[in-house]
Amino acid sequence: MTSLTTTNTALVGQPAAQGWYTNTPILELKEIRASYGPIEVLHGVSLNVYANQAVALLGANGAGKTSVLKVATGLLAPDSGCLHIAGRHVNGVVTDELARLGICTVPEGRGIFPNLSVADNLKMGTYSGVSLEAIEQSAYERFPKLAARRNQLAGTMSGGEQQMLSLARALATRPVLLLIDELSMGLAPIIVDQLFEEVTRIVNEGTSVLIIEQFARKALQVATWGVVLNNGVVEAQGSPDELGDALDSAYLGKKVQ
Ligand SMILES: Nc1ncnc2c1ncn2[C@@H]1O[C@H](COP(=O)(O)OP(=O)(O)O)[C@@H](O)[C@H]1O
Ligand SMILES: [Mg+2]
Repeated sequence: MTSLTTTNTALVGQPAAQGWYTNTPILELKEIRASYGPIEVLHGVSLNVYANQAVALLGANGAGKTSVLKVATGLLAPDSGCLHIAGRHVNGVVTDELARLGICTVPEGRGIFPNLSVADNLKMGTYSGVSLEAIEQSAYERFPKLAARRNQLAGTMSGGEQQMLSLARALATRPVLLLIDELSMGLAPIIVDQLFEEVTRIVNEGTSVLIIEQFARKALQVATWGVVLNNGVVEAQGSPDELGDALDSAYLGKKVQ
Protein backbone atom coordinates (compact mmCIF):
# COMPACT_ATOMS: atom_id res chain seq x y z
CA MET A 1 0.00 0.00 0.00
CA THR A 2 1.26 3.46 -0.86
CA SER A 3 1.67 5.89 1.98
CA LEU A 4 1.24 9.63 1.81
CA THR A 5 3.54 12.10 3.48
CA THR A 6 2.17 14.20 6.30
CA THR A 7 2.08 17.29 4.08
CA ASN A 8 -0.97 15.83 2.42
CA THR A 9 -2.98 16.43 5.57
CA ALA A 10 -2.98 20.10 4.53
CA LEU A 11 -6.17 19.47 2.56
CA VAL A 12 -8.21 18.73 5.65
CA GLY A 13 -10.55 21.54 6.57
CA GLN A 14 -9.67 23.63 3.52
CA PRO A 15 -12.86 25.21 2.31
CA ALA A 16 -13.41 23.91 -1.19
CA ALA A 17 -14.43 27.44 -2.22
CA GLN A 18 -10.88 28.67 -1.70
CA GLY A 19 -10.19 28.27 -5.38
CA TRP A 20 -6.68 26.88 -5.52
CA TYR A 21 -7.90 23.64 -6.97
CA THR A 22 -11.06 24.93 -8.61
CA ASN A 23 -10.21 23.55 -12.04
CA THR A 24 -8.86 20.28 -10.72
CA PRO A 25 -11.52 17.75 -9.77
CA ILE A 26 -11.72 16.95 -6.07
CA LEU A 27 -12.39 13.36 -7.08
CA GLU A 28 -11.36 11.91 -10.40
CA LEU A 29 -11.77 8.32 -11.50
CA LYS A 30 -10.10 7.55 -14.82
CA GLU A 31 -10.89 4.29 -16.57
CA ILE A 32 -11.16 2.40 -13.28
CA ARG A 33 -11.45 -1.35 -13.46
CA ALA A 34 -12.11 -3.23 -10.21
CA SER A 35 -12.98 -6.77 -9.22
CA TYR A 36 -14.10 -8.95 -6.37
CA GLY A 37 -11.88 -12.00 -6.73
CA PRO A 38 -12.00 -13.11 -10.36
CA ILE A 39 -15.14 -11.14 -11.20
CA GLU A 40 -14.66 -7.68 -12.64
CA VAL A 41 -17.52 -5.38 -11.63
CA LEU A 42 -16.26 -1.96 -12.80
CA HIS A 43 -15.20 -1.99 -16.43
CA GLY A 44 -13.41 1.31 -17.01
CA VAL A 45 -15.38 3.86 -15.00
CA SER A 46 -14.51 7.55 -15.39
CA LEU A 47 -16.13 10.37 -13.47
CA ASN A 48 -15.24 13.73 -11.91
CA VAL A 49 -16.53 15.66 -8.94
CA TYR A 50 -15.46 19.33 -8.82
CA ALA A 51 -15.31 21.74 -5.91
CA ASN A 52 -18.69 22.88 -4.64
CA GLN A 53 -20.43 20.37 -6.83
CA ALA A 54 -23.03 17.73 -6.05
CA VAL A 55 -22.80 14.82 -8.47
CA ALA A 56 -25.39 12.04 -8.50
CA LEU A 57 -24.17 8.53 -9.23
CA LEU A 58 -27.23 6.63 -10.39
CA GLY A 59 -28.14 3.15 -11.48
CA ALA A 60 -30.17 0.11 -10.61
CA ASN A 61 -29.32 -2.30 -7.81
CA GLY A 62 -26.08 -4.11 -8.67
CA ALA A 63 -24.91 -1.49 -11.19
CA GLY A 64 -21.65 -0.94 -9.28
CA LYS A 65 -22.39 2.29 -7.38
CA THR A 66 -21.14 1.11 -3.99
CA SER A 67 -18.08 -0.40 -5.65
CA VAL A 68 -17.22 3.06 -7.02
CA LEU A 69 -17.48 4.43 -3.48
CA LYS A 70 -15.22 1.64 -2.22
CA VAL A 71 -12.62 2.50 -4.85
CA ALA A 72 -12.83 6.22 -4.03
CA THR A 73 -12.31 5.53 -0.32
CA GLY A 74 -9.52 2.98 -0.68
CA LEU A 75 -11.58 -0.05 0.36
CA LEU A 76 -11.38 -1.68 -3.05
CA ALA A 77 -8.09 -1.43 -4.92
CA PRO A 78 -8.54 -0.85 -8.65
CA ASP A 79 -7.03 -3.40 -11.07
CA SER A 80 -6.23 -0.57 -13.44
CA GLY A 81 -7.02 3.07 -14.07
CA CYS A 82 -6.27 6.10 -11.93
CA LEU A 83 -7.78 7.52 -8.78
CA HIS A 84 -7.02 11.18 -8.15
CA ILE A 85 -7.98 13.21 -5.11
CA ALA A 86 -7.51 16.94 -5.64
CA GLY A 87 -5.03 16.18 -8.39
CA ARG A 88 -2.95 13.66 -6.44
CA HIS A 89 -2.57 10.12 -7.68
CA VAL A 90 -3.84 8.02 -4.76
CA ASN A 91 -4.24 4.48 -6.11
CA GLY A 92 -3.49 2.10 -3.28
CA VAL A 93 -3.61 4.71 -0.53
CA VAL A 94 -5.27 3.28 2.57
CA THR A 95 -8.69 4.37 3.76
CA ASP A 96 -7.65 6.28 6.85
CA GLU A 97 -5.13 8.29 4.88
CA LEU A 98 -7.83 9.20 2.36
CA ALA A 99 -10.01 10.22 5.31
CA ARG A 100 -7.20 12.50 6.46
CA LEU A 101 -7.21 14.04 2.99
CA GLY A 102 -10.79 15.05 3.66
CA ILE A 103 -12.76 12.21 2.10
CA CYS A 104 -15.67 11.08 4.26
CA THR A 105 -18.56 8.68 3.76
CA VAL A 106 -22.08 8.08 4.87
CA PRO A 107 -22.07 4.36 4.10
CA GLU A 108 -24.90 2.21 2.84
CA GLY A 109 -26.88 1.15 5.92
CA ARG A 110 -25.63 4.25 7.78
CA GLY A 111 -22.71 2.64 9.61
CA ILE A 112 -23.69 3.87 13.04
CA PHE A 113 -23.19 1.84 16.21
CA PRO A 114 -26.71 0.91 17.37
CA ASN A 115 -25.67 0.01 20.91
CA LEU A 116 -23.85 3.28 21.52
CA SER A 117 -25.48 6.58 22.40
CA VAL A 118 -25.72 9.45 19.95
CA ALA A 119 -22.89 11.26 21.76
CA ASP A 120 -20.66 8.17 21.71
CA ASN A 121 -21.30 7.73 17.98
CA LEU A 122 -20.26 11.34 17.44
CA LYS A 123 -17.14 10.67 19.48
CA MET A 124 -15.94 8.50 16.59
CA GLY A 125 -15.35 11.74 14.67
CA THR A 126 -12.75 12.90 17.17
CA TYR A 127 -10.05 10.75 15.53
CA SER A 128 -9.54 13.75 13.26
CA GLY A 129 -8.45 15.89 16.19
CA VAL A 130 -11.69 17.89 16.45
CA SER A 131 -13.00 17.97 20.03
CA LEU A 132 -16.18 16.13 20.96
CA GLU A 133 -17.62 19.40 22.21
CA ALA A 134 -17.13 21.06 18.82
CA ILE A 135 -18.50 18.02 16.99
CA GLU A 136 -21.58 17.87 19.20
CA GLN A 137 -22.20 21.58 18.86
CA SER A 138 -22.17 21.49 15.07
CA ALA A 139 -24.20 18.24 14.95
CA TYR A 140 -26.97 19.61 17.18
CA GLU A 141 -27.03 22.93 15.39
CA ARG A 142 -27.50 21.12 12.10
CA PHE A 143 -29.94 18.55 13.45
CA PRO A 144 -31.67 19.88 16.60
CA LYS A 145 -33.56 16.57 16.88
CA LEU A 146 -30.31 14.85 17.81
CA ALA A 147 -29.66 17.15 20.78
CA ALA A 148 -32.64 15.81 22.70
CA ARG A 149 -31.44 12.29 21.97
CA ARG A 150 -27.86 12.79 23.06
CA ASN A 151 -27.91 9.86 25.50
CA GLN A 152 -30.30 7.64 23.55
CA LEU A 153 -28.97 4.45 22.00
CA ALA A 154 -28.61 5.16 18.29
CA GLY A 155 -30.28 1.89 17.32
CA THR A 156 -33.52 2.92 19.01
CA MET A 157 -33.92 6.06 16.90
CA SER A 158 -35.98 6.29 13.71
CA GLY A 159 -34.29 5.61 10.38
CA GLY A 160 -34.29 9.30 9.51
CA GLU A 161 -32.67 10.23 12.82
CA GLN A 162 -30.04 7.55 12.35
CA GLN A 163 -29.28 8.97 8.91
CA MET A 164 -28.95 12.44 10.49
CA LEU A 165 -26.47 11.00 12.97
CA SER A 166 -24.50 9.35 10.21
CA LEU A 167 -24.38 12.65 8.27
CA ALA A 168 -23.45 14.64 11.38
CA ARG A 169 -20.64 12.25 12.21
CA ALA A 170 -19.27 12.34 8.66
CA LEU A 171 -19.35 16.14 8.69
CA ALA A 172 -17.55 16.35 12.02
CA THR A 173 -14.21 16.50 10.27
CA ARG A 174 -15.33 19.19 7.79
CA PRO A 175 -14.64 16.94 4.79
CA VAL A 176 -13.65 18.26 1.39
CA LEU A 177 -15.67 15.51 -0.26
CA LEU A 178 -18.59 13.60 1.19
CA LEU A 179 -19.74 10.35 -0.41
CA ILE A 180 -23.28 9.40 0.53
CA ASP A 181 -24.48 5.89 -0.28
CA GLU A 182 -28.27 5.49 -0.56
CA LEU A 183 -29.38 8.29 1.74
CA SER A 184 -33.02 7.53 0.99
CA MET A 185 -32.90 3.79 1.73
CA GLY A 186 -35.97 2.71 3.69
CA LEU A 187 -37.09 6.22 4.60
CA ALA A 188 -40.42 7.99 4.15
CA PRO A 189 -40.47 10.53 1.27
CA ILE A 190 -40.90 13.53 3.57
CA ILE A 191 -37.81 12.54 5.59
CA VAL A 192 -35.86 11.99 2.37
CA ASP A 193 -36.80 15.51 1.23
CA GLN A 194 -35.53 16.98 4.51
CA LEU A 195 -32.25 15.06 4.27
CA PHE A 196 -31.69 16.17 0.68
CA GLU A 197 -32.32 19.78 1.74
CA GLU A 198 -29.51 19.27 4.21
CA VAL A 199 -27.28 17.93 1.43
CA THR A 200 -27.89 21.15 -0.51
CA ARG A 201 -26.82 23.11 2.58
CA ILE A 202 -23.69 20.99 2.90
CA VAL A 203 -22.74 21.75 -0.71
CA ASN A 204 -23.38 25.46 -0.15
CA GLU A 205 -21.04 25.31 2.84
CA GLY A 206 -18.23 24.25 0.50
CA THR A 207 -18.18 20.45 0.64
CA SER A 208 -18.40 18.55 -2.64
CA VAL A 209 -20.79 15.62 -2.55
CA LEU A 210 -21.17 12.40 -4.50
CA ILE A 211 -24.75 11.25 -4.01
CA ILE A 212 -25.16 7.57 -4.73
CA GLU A 213 -28.80 6.78 -5.28
CA GLN A 214 -31.15 4.25 -6.77
CA PHE A 215 -33.87 6.90 -6.68
CA ALA A 216 -32.60 9.01 -9.51
CA ARG A 217 -35.23 11.71 -9.71
CA LYS A 218 -34.72 12.71 -6.10
CA ALA A 219 -30.95 12.90 -6.36
CA LEU A 220 -31.14 14.93 -9.57
CA GLN A 221 -33.12 17.61 -7.77
CA VAL A 222 -30.03 18.27 -5.67
CA ALA A 223 -27.17 17.42 -8.05
CA THR A 224 -25.99 19.57 -10.94
CA TRP A 225 -24.42 16.61 -12.74
CA GLY A 226 -25.49 12.99 -13.01
CA VAL A 227 -23.56 9.85 -13.91
CA VAL A 228 -25.55 6.79 -14.91
CA LEU A 229 -23.95 3.46 -14.22
CA ASN A 230 -25.20 0.26 -15.82
CA ASN A 231 -23.52 -3.12 -15.22
CA GLY A 232 -20.24 -1.49 -14.22
CA VAL A 233 -20.09 0.86 -17.19
CA VAL A 234 -20.88 4.59 -17.33
CA GLU A 235 -23.79 4.61 -19.70
CA ALA A 236 -24.29 8.36 -19.75
CA GLN A 237 -23.42 11.51 -17.90
CA GLY A 238 -24.79 14.99 -18.12
CA SER A 239 -26.92 17.66 -16.54
CA PRO A 240 -30.15 16.50 -14.90
CA ASP A 241 -32.08 17.75 -17.94
CA GLU A 242 -29.99 15.68 -20.33
CA LEU A 243 -30.26 12.37 -18.56
CA GLY A 244 -33.87 11.31 -19.09
CA ASP A 245 -33.49 8.62 -21.76
CA ALA A 246 -30.29 7.21 -20.30
CA LEU A 247 -32.02 6.73 -16.98
CA ASP A 248 -34.87 4.83 -18.53
CA SER A 249 -32.52 2.38 -20.23
CA ALA A 250 -30.24 1.94 -17.19
CA TYR A 251 -33.24 0.94 -15.16
CA LEU A 252 -34.22 -1.55 -17.86
CA GLY A 253 -37.68 -0.32 -18.51
CA LYS A 254 -38.62 -0.18 -14.85
CA LYS A 255 -40.22 3.07 -13.79
CA VAL A 256 -37.45 5.43 -12.70
CA GLN A 257 -38.24 6.91 -9.32
N1 LIG B 1 -18.17 -8.08 -1.54
C1 LIG B 1 -18.52 -8.50 -2.76
N2 LIG B 1 -18.08 -9.68 -3.25
C2 LIG B 1 -18.42 -10.09 -4.48
N3 LIG B 1 -19.20 -9.41 -5.32
C3 LIG B 1 -19.70 -8.24 -4.88
C4 LIG B 1 -19.39 -7.72 -3.59
N4 LIG B 1 -20.02 -6.53 -3.44
C5 LIG B 1 -20.68 -6.32 -4.61
N5 LIG B 1 -20.49 -7.34 -5.47
C6 LIG B 1 -21.04 -7.43 -6.83
O1 LIG B 1 -20.57 -6.31 -7.56
C7 LIG B 1 -21.59 -5.81 -8.41
C8 LIG B 1 -21.84 -4.34 -8.09
O2 LIG B 1 -22.34 -4.23 -6.78
P1 LIG B 1 -22.51 -2.85 -6.03
O3 LIG B 1 -21.31 -2.01 -6.30
O4 LIG B 1 -22.87 -3.12 -4.62
O5 LIG B 1 -23.76 -2.22 -6.80
P2 LIG B 1 -24.82 -1.13 -6.36
O6 LIG B 1 -24.26 -0.36 -5.21
O7 LIG B 1 -25.01 -0.30 -7.59
O8 LIG B 1 -26.07 -1.86 -5.99
C9 LIG B 1 -22.80 -6.68 -8.20
O9 LIG B 1 -22.81 -7.67 -9.21
C10 LIG B 1 -22.55 -7.32 -6.86
O10 LIG B 1 -23.15 -8.58 -6.76
MG1 LIG C 1 -25.00 -0.06 -3.31
